[in-house]
Amino acid sequence: MKFALKPSFYALFAGAMFVCASAGAQTQVVGNAKVGESKAALCVGCHGILNFKTAFPEVHKVPRIHGQSGPYIVAALTAYQKGERKHPSMVDVAEALTPQDKADLAAYFSGQGLPALKSDEPSKKPSAEVAALIEKGGCTACHGTNFSKPVDPSYPKIGGQHADFLYFALKAYTVEGHSLVGRSNPVMAGIAKQFKPAELKQLANYLSSIQGEVRTVRQDTFR
Ligand code: HEC
Ligand code: HEC
Repeated sequence: MKFALKPSFYALFAGAMFVCASAGAQTQVVGNAKVGESKAALCVGCHGILNFKTAFPEVHKVPRIHGQSGPYIVAALTAYQKGERKHPSMVDVAEALTPQDKADLAAYFSGQGLPALKSDEPSKKPSAEVAALIEKGGCTACHGTNFSKPVDPSYPKIGGQHADFLYFALKAYTVEGHSLVGRSNPVMAGIAKQFKPAELKQLANYLSSIQGEVRTVRQDTFR
């Protein structure tokens, strides 16, 4: 009897070790899109309404997250939890999410985008002025030449995103020491601070005008 029990004891022990290891490292949590859909009811109240706007701290459209890169969705939600991103609505929403919730939601939303872009080039060439800004900021080195193929999946797809949101997000990287507004990502802070607001707006308008993979899926079309 003793011998028969031993292997299963070790198997249980090994199983418990594995669970601990994956809970510690968030990146190892595997998301399930079906489960994610069932957890998305709250999210689509804002992200599932076409052109839905938020009023704080200035009026802009809520970002398109259907089709966004999964690891970026997890990274962004984690940044709201840690206070690295300060938007109050999203801080409240993200607070209670477990690593498994974040992975499931990311699996669901990342699978709901537009078809993957076939071309590595943007669907529309920037003006010479905007091309110079893109060159100065080195944007394509990280976000990809078509702005939807980031070099690291934890970086966002920014092509085809709402212009007013992109502008707001870019400005947020330049804000320091504010309790309700700002993003502390050091990489984007260093980049955004090189530009005047009017230049950030030009970049945002161009990025929004090209074809992307992100979209808003209306809540009532999948219910
Ligand atoms: C009350 C409206 C509201 C709800 C509900 C909401 N969001 Fe958001 N979400 C926003 C706004 C506004 C932003 C932009 C915040 C900012 O400027 O950083 C945002 C940003 C995000 C971002 C970052 C997008 C990007 O491109 O940087 C992700 C990811 C996200 N939300 C996921 C979710 C998920 C998942 C849920 C449900 C668990 C959810 N949101 C619920 C309003 C909402
Ligand atoms: C060295 C890599 C790198 C370069 C170069 C870079 N970015 Fe980023 N970008 C990132 C990362 C990483 C994030 C996510 C930061 C975070 O977690 O908030 C980001 C986020 C963004 C966002 C927020 C998107 C969203 O959905 O919230 C915008 C807009 C953006 N970048 C635009 C640009 C533009 C425009 C340029 C060029 C002027 C540029 N980036 C250059 C790495 C880079």
